[in-house]
Amino acid sequence: MGYKVCSESTYKALLNEYSNYVDMNLNIDIRRGRPATEQLNLSGAMLKVKSSDFIAKGTNADIRNYGLPKGLPEARQLFADLLGYSVDNVMIGGNSSLNLMYDIVANSMLRGVLGGDRWLDSAKIKFLCPAPGYDRHFKICQDLGIEMITVKMNADGPDMDTIEELVSTDPDIKGMWCVPQYSNPTGITFSDEVVTRMANLKPCCNNFRIFWDNSYCIHHLYPNDQDHVMDIVAACKEAGNPHMVYTFMSTSKVTFAGSGVAVVAASPENIDFLAKQFDTETIGFDKINQKMHVDFLKDPENILKHMERHAKIMRPKFNVVLKALKSGIRSAKVASWSNPKGGYFISVDVMPGCAAKVVDMAAKAGVFFTNAGSTFPYGKDPLDSNIRIAPTAVSVKDLALAMKVFCVCANIAAYEKCAK
Ligand SMILES: Cc1ncc(COP(=O)(O)O)c(C=O)c1O
Repeated sequence: MGYKVCSESTYKALLNEYSNYVDMNLNIDIRRGRPATEQLNLSGAMLKVKSSDFIAKGTNADIRNYGLPKGLPEARQLFADLLGYSVDNVMIGGNSSLNLMYDIVANSMLRGVLGGDRWLDSAKIKFLCPAPGYDRHFKICQDLGIEMITVKMNADGPDMDTIEELVSTDPDIKGMWCVPQYSNPTGITFSDEVVTRMANLKPCCNNFRIFWDNSYCIHHLYPNDQDHVMDIVAACKEAGNPHMVYTFMSTSKVTFAGSGVAVVAASPENIDFLAKQFDTETIGFDKINQKMHVDFLKDPENILKHMERHAKIMRPKFNVVLKALKSGIRSAKVASWSNPKGGYFISVDVMPGCAAKVVDMAAKAGVFFTNAGSTFPYGKDPLDSNIRIAPTAVSVKDLALAMKVFCVCANIAAYEKCAK
């Protein structure tokens, strides 16, 4: 006899509960990792910073004018200090790290990388995509015609055996996406072993690059239980691959999402090279915003304190989701989920073959989750199992209701799958 999620009478009660939710006309959106208004308010004072000193530190440059293509020196210093680099390793971009990533991918295709050919001169361009991963990374590849190769994501990072093999044998593989700390969506952090193996890759082409999107590097949920991923820039240097990696972060989830500042850190030679490439597309990023950030954020210690205030707002929301899953999911076969120490997401694997149905049923009840499949290249989850939950943007009350709907849908979908 096949597995049964619950008795038939319980299933009927679940259907009844679901139809009550449908009748409630809910509208709860937990699709994207957006900070809540309360979190944005934490940085409200930044907009009131009035600086009479418009001359960039150590220069004659007026920040209100063109110039300083690598960013405001004091902003470079602040983020270098935060990330443990020297100023030469750091360039400040505009309002979005995703924008920097897209531009660097596109520029690498069209104009090449430091010491390497332009990607378009290759017969094909391929990227390694550890999955589940960040849907917008995959969208960059898809929109630019880059073939994506899915790599299994383990609890300590992507499957390095596969990556080593592919990178050393396929010269069309030009890049790889990584979210190394509190990964989007699984919440895992790459182990030192994974980082070391990654830094020691032996690509068989001269233009392979790792896109190390460290978006959640300071986004811890708990003060005394934190992950810290190893420094890949230093590891690459030690491995004799100093230019193989670009790392990224931004203040989108520190100050204002979409109006923060974005940072790229890499070898000093890469930073010089990138600044030259960017010089064609901009005469300099927004230094006034950089200045406001420096004045508001002040120093690494202050930034970390600020992040603790974010965590205080976020923790109850993560707890609501975890509690709801624990009490609402009927068995380990119906769903398993991550218990992240940081980042913005909880990743749920529902019974294989059920994710699209769960997301669809929840949407019919007015609760919106990220599309099933979106955490995989081409939007296709081979198991139709992974669903990303982004708990931050809505209230605790709405989140609790949304999760009740989610659990009911997951239980129903699993029951019906087993009944087939
Ligand atoms: C892994 C990751 N990278 C980048 C971004 C977007 O960053 P930004 O706002 O700096 O473009 C997000 C937003 O959710 C993200 O999860």
